Amino acid sequence: MKDLILDVDTGVDDALAILFAVRHPELRLRAVTCVAGNTGVDQVVANTLKVLDAAGAPDVPVSAGAVRPLIGPARDAGHIHGADGLADLGLPTSARRPAGMPAVELLRNAILGAPEPVVVVGLAPLTNLALLLRVYPEVAGNIERLVFMGGSASTGNATPVAEFNVWHDPEATAIVVDAEVPLTMYGLDVFYHVSVDAPTCADLIGHEEPGSRLAGALLRHQIALCGADPRVDGAGLLGDAGALCAVADPEGLTTERLPVCVELAPGLSRGQTLVDRRVLPGEDEAHGLAGPSRSIDVALGVDALRYRKLFLDTLLSKPPS
Ligand code: BDR
Ligand code: CA
Repeated sequence: MKDLILDVDTGVDDALAILFAVRHPELRLRAVTCVAGNTGVDQVVANTLKVLDAAGAPDVPVSAGAVRPLIGPARDAGHIHGADGLADLGLPTSARRPAGMPAVELLRNAILGAPEPVVVVGLAPLTNLALLLRVYPEVAGNIERLVFMGGSASTGNATPVAEFNVWHDPEATAIVVDAEVPLTMYGLDVFYHVSVDAPTCADLIGHEEPGSRLAGALLRHQIALCGADPRVDGAGLLGDAGALCAVADPEGLTTERLPVCVELAPGLSRGQTLVDRRVLPGEDEAHGLAGPSRSIDVALGVDALRYRKLFLDTLLSKPPS
């Protein structure tokens, strides 16, 4: 069993990740913290509570965190995730209430209070996690691994070179990349590869479990949105949920330990993750990249069919009683 903490900006694909995390038998979700990203942080909290309802989750603590990046204003992604950030599905308001403490406090308590080192997964701009590492650096000692969805060793999506989560808060990403914890960057090089085809999505929509039905409706939204995107080929993108598959089944992910540096300068390439893929024999640390850079595990390949099956097996299994 792995103890897991999620930081999210729910978000269609964050919702798929939460559904997976609650339903996977080997993952124990200890806390969920929310941050501004796909939508405003209050809406992220409301969406997260609704998804936990649909998943049939136990009483998982949820807290609101940063309302904006460390520097600069929040910039949402309503054009992708809908006006409410959750595909405008009209889900019922949850009776759950957020924990009465800020995200940084919940993260600290959940990490230090865990009996074994936990896996922390950032699926959003890394503002909350950067603040946590600055305010409570001692948490690093009880983090087994920090996996974040963000960045790219190739092209971007928010800009030609920057991925949305890093573009939204580059300074926070730079702080996290510099942290003394084992890090995996699950970026755009793998993000667009894991998807569910339209007939399977229809099966999910017709399922008796609310969590499975919600997954189907979210994937239908993804199909409508990305239908013309050749990277997804008419299927429903799992997106952030792929990063959770990588936590549950790391063997499906191919990573290389590479120096990564975040571009912080204003201009066209702000928010780019510079991944040094040069082969320089005899060296395994940063090859003279400008600015702070650290070697971290960068995902460069994924067994997409394996993760698709893992996601579907998990969502179509019996929910926890
Ligand atoms: C990331 O941006 C958000 O819109 C998604 O939820 C995902 O975390 C992809 O670039
Ligand atoms: Ca997200």
